[in-house]
Amino acid sequence: MDLLVDSAYWADAYRRAVGEDAPGTKKDWDAKARGFAHKSRRSSYIDQLVDLLALEPGENVFDMGAGSGTLSIPLAQRGHAVVAVDFSPGMLGELAAGAREAGVEVSAFERSWQDDWTDLPCADVAVASRSLITDDLAGACAKLESKARSRVAVTMPGGETPMVDLRMLRTMGRPASEQEQRRGFVAALNYLFASGRRPSVSHIAYPRRWHAPSRKQLLEAAESTARPQDAAERDALRRFVERHATVDAETGECALDYEQNIVWSCMIWPVPEREARFSD
Ligand SMILES: C[S@@+](CC[C@H](N)C(=O)[O-])C[C@H]1O[C@@H](n2cnc3c(N)ncnc32)[C@H](O)[C@@H]1O
Repeated sequence: MDLLVDSAYWADAYRRAVGEDAPGTKKDWDAKARGFAHKSRRSSYIDQLVDLLALEPGENVFDMGAGSGTLSIPLAQRGHAVVAVDFSPGMLGELAAGAREAGVEVSAFERSWQDDWTDLPCADVAVASRSLITDDLAGACAKLESKARSRVAVTMPGGETPMVDLRMLRTMGRPASEQEQRRGFVAALNYLFASGRRPSVSHIAYPRRWHAPSRKQLLEAAESTARPQDAAERDALRRFVERHATVDAETGECALDYEQNIVWSCMIWPVPEREARFSD
C-alpha cells in the first residue's frame, strides 16, 4: 500500500480525528456557534494565520468553513473583500452579527463541502482554516483550487488544539498522543506532494490555559471538550480538574495550573496550472 496516494489513509485519519460520535452535523455546529464566536476572539491564532497568508493589498479571500467569521472579519477589517462559506446557519448568523458590529461587509453563502459551488465567486486566495471536515480530501483540494486564482491555504491540527487536551484524555485512560493528533495533517501533506503540489508548511503555535468564571463552569467546559464516555471517565476527569484548578484571589476566576501547547499546521500552495497538473 502506498501511503502517499492512498485516499483510504486520509479517510481513516479523518474518521479517527472526528470520532464515530463527534459533533459534525449542521445542528452540532449551530449549537456551538455562540460559544465559538466568543472564545475564538481571544486567541493569537488568527494574527499568526494572517501573517502566513501574506495577502497583498487588494487581494480577496474565499474563506471555506468560515464559522463565526474568526478570519473573515479581521481580513475585511484589513480591507480585503471576503467570500465566507459555511454549512451552519448558526455560524453564519454569528458571522453576520460580528461583521455588523465591526462595521464591515462580508459576502456569506450557506454551503457545505459536498454541495455544488459552481455559482460561488472566486477569489485570489482560498482558505480552509481548521475546517477541512470532509472524508474527501482530493475533492476538497480540487474545490478550493477551483475558487482560487493564486493560492490555497489549509490549516489542520498539528498537535494539541483547544478541542483536544492530551492531559485530560490520558487521565481518562485514552491513548492520546501528539502524533495521533497530526495524522490528518500528515495524510494531507502526503497527498499534496503525491499529487504534484508543493505546499509550504508552517506551524501556528501558542500556549493556552483553561479558565472559566467558576469551578463548576470549568468542569463543564472540560466535560464538553473531553467528552467522557462513562462514569469512570467522568470521575477521572472530575478528579483531574479538582487537582489542577486554581482560583484567582482578586477576580475569583478559575484556571487550570498548566498550559496546553496548541499547534495548528498550515499548508499553502500555488494553484496549479490546470493543464500542467493533469499532464504531470
Ligand atoms: C472549527 S470551525 C473553524 C471556523 C474558522 N474557519 C476558524 O478557523 O475559526 C469549523 C467550521 O467548519 C464548518 N463545517 C463543518 N463541517 C462542514 C461541512 N461539511 N461543510 C461546510 N462547513 C462545515 C463548521 O460549521 C464550522 O463553522
